[in-house]
Amino acid sequence: MPPSASDAATSRTPRDPRDPIIVALDLPDVAQARALVAEIGDGAYFYKIGYRLGFSGGLAFARELVDQGRKVFLDFKLHDIGNTVTEGVAAIRELGVDLATVHAYPQTMAAAVAGRGDGGLKLLAVTVLTSYDDADLAAAGYASSVGDLVARRAAQAREAGIDGIVCSPQEIAAVRAALGPQGLIVTPGIRPAGADAGDQKRVMTPGEAVRAGADHLVIGRPITRAADPRAAAMAIAEDIAGALPAG
Ligand code: C5P
Repeated sequence: MPPSASDAATSRTPRDPRDPIIVALDLPDVAQARALVAEIGDGAYFYKIGYRLGFSGGLAFARELVDQGRKVFLDFKLHDIGNTVTEGVAAIRELGVDLATVHAYPQTMAAAVAGRGDGGLKLLAVTVLTSYDDADLAAAGYASSVGDLVARRAAQAREAGIDGIVCSPQEIAAVRAALGPQGLIVTPGIRPAGADAGDQKRVMTPGEAVRAGADHLVIGRPITRAADPRAAAMAIAEDIAGALPAG
């Protein structure tokens, strides 16, 4: 199949309602991930690999997906001294993946941009982990509220030349204001209407998140644990279709 319905996959102008969907492959091993991707088929073509799968053979699998024409988001949230981050991002670029994450510290972001090159790799910054509230930030030594730090770091991401931000659906408007019109906004915490929220506390439906200005939606369990993952992805694409601008 040609998995990518459009070459607009990491741009801000989706043409196919599957373009915004990124399926989180939070699975224990490559065999299960490979089987799931095959089952989803043409229902989605963009996949996120994080710690669990990444440290269980998932990097070679990322290349396998890329070789099949699928898109890959490597979510390792890098943060280290500049030289290490630059070299790490340059190595990620060689894998041929499309998106990778770093923490939104100014040094880290500048170093990541230096390693990105000008090929297909786009970098996303994580401003404040959504598991942190104001008290957690205070305990970590920060004087800012979560909202202030998210806005500050989104603006710093833009200055550093980062391509986009990962944030919760509730932060989309504030992040867009700080990031400007060009940057990508990628959001987890997505649940189709009526779906089990699981451990996600503040959720939006796919259509709501796209209407609120999200460019990509990271969706795990509503697809990966569905009885029919392809049908689940297709239903999500249908919800997105109603939210995309006409034309
Ligand atoms: O299964 P579910 O749709 O909740 O998966 C969401 C994915 O997005 C998971 O891979 C999770 O680690 C990730 N994520 C998140 N919340 C964040 C950042 C990442 O749910 N703030």
